[in-house]
Amino acid sequence: MFDFEAYLRGVIGELKDEGRYRTFVSLAKIKPPYVETEYGLVTNWCSNDYLGMSVHPKVCEAAKITLDKRGVGAGGTRNIAGTHPEIINLENTIREVTEKESSLVFSSGYAANEAALAALGRVLPDCVFFSDEENHASMIRGMAASKAKREVFRHNDVNHLRELLSGYPSSIPKIVVFESVYSMSGSFGDLVPLIETAKEFGALVYVDETHGVGLYGEKGAGLCQELGVLEFVDVIQGGLGKGYGVIGGFIAGSNLIVDTVRSFGSAFIFTTALPPMVCAAANASVRHLSESQTERALHRRNVKLLKDKLKGLSVLKTPSHIVPVMIRDSFLCKQISDRLLNEFKIYIQPINYPTVPRGEERLRITPTPLHSEADTDHLVSSLRAVIPQTIQLAA
Ligand SMILES: Cc1ncc(COP(=O)(O)O)c(C=O)c1O
Repeated sequence: MFDFEAYLRGVIGELKDEGRYRTFVSLAKIKPPYVETEYGLVTNWCSNDYLGMSVHPKVCEAAKITLDKRGVGAGGTRNIAGTHPEIINLENTIREVTEKESSLVFSSGYAANEAALAALGRVLPDCVFFSDEENHASMIRGMAASKAKREVFRHNDVNHLRELLSGYPSSIPKIVVFESVYSMSGSFGDLVPLIETAKEFGALVYVDETHGVGLYGEKGAGLCQELGVLEFVDVIQGGLGKGYGVIGGFIAGSNLIVDTVRSFGSAFIFTTALPPMVCAAANASVRHLSESQTERALHRRNVKLLKDKLKGLSVLKTPSHIVPVMIRDSFLCKQISDRLLNEFKIYIQPINYPTVPRGEERLRITPTPLHSEADTDHLVSSLRAVIPQTIQLAA
């Protein structure tokens, strides 16, 4: 008989041997960025709550008021008893902010990508996806689930995209899929040339703005809005759990595209809707960040401050708010992260394979508007103390 215990022990053992066994640190938010942990009070430097919106008074108040009015769960799928005014309000706000005809909310950004790409690839006859090689697992899953053909172009390589697109007749439906902000490298998608090339070949443009929404653009719709190319993007996908500080995901696009995903997206149809209090909180956050520039300005100031102070360390130069410090060794990366936590009360989770390729292990730092200059100084001196000289010199 198959020995499940022995087999699984072996699988987990391999992860441990390679230094990529994941351990979770439990963080109790006290007053972000400060969190209570088993190591004492610690400063969190790797949160995706990029703007601190998870504790914004307007967002928390909206959740509390709605909790009192409506209780907790939505009680059903969207189709069967799970649609409520708060989710519709949220979709209306997203539609306005992203300047699209329609929008649809999902239980996560992952589900949004999975559902949308699977539905579009399945419904469109002989559809071919053209996917950036660094695309997130959720998009890869969605495209794979559609069973449509997928061509992968080298990261941000417009010539490669063009070469692949030219291999198909114009009559075939094509979808070009990429991200605006790549969250592990901090690079931007080369949006303008990618969009132009896709349009030249009559392809639909699908942009994952999970790490861009809330943070970029005059109304917080993301990098496409900031660069003035929103109107050329057919589907904007975004997350509600990162810059917006809540949970959930969305797509925005034309009535027909959104209706198609609503009608055929399995990960949309067969799952319980987000609760009213969550949607009310997300709505407050999206609305606030569509009107206020304060959080974005403070965030940018703090990102710049950290980047300036980290000069000389092995930091990837990024145009975005993500600051990767390259360690390039999984054991060392974990060791440095452990020392930061134990000795300096700084929490930065090590990023190892398969999230990044082997040999590209890193500390991924995400400054927020809530970090003080003293926090930044403490982080910089601690990193200088724990990162070996050889790595610092390799910068
Ligand atoms: C590019 C990208 N898309 C989608 C997702 C999934 O978003 P969510 O965490 O809301 O499920 C992530 C998550 O980290 C991501 O990095």
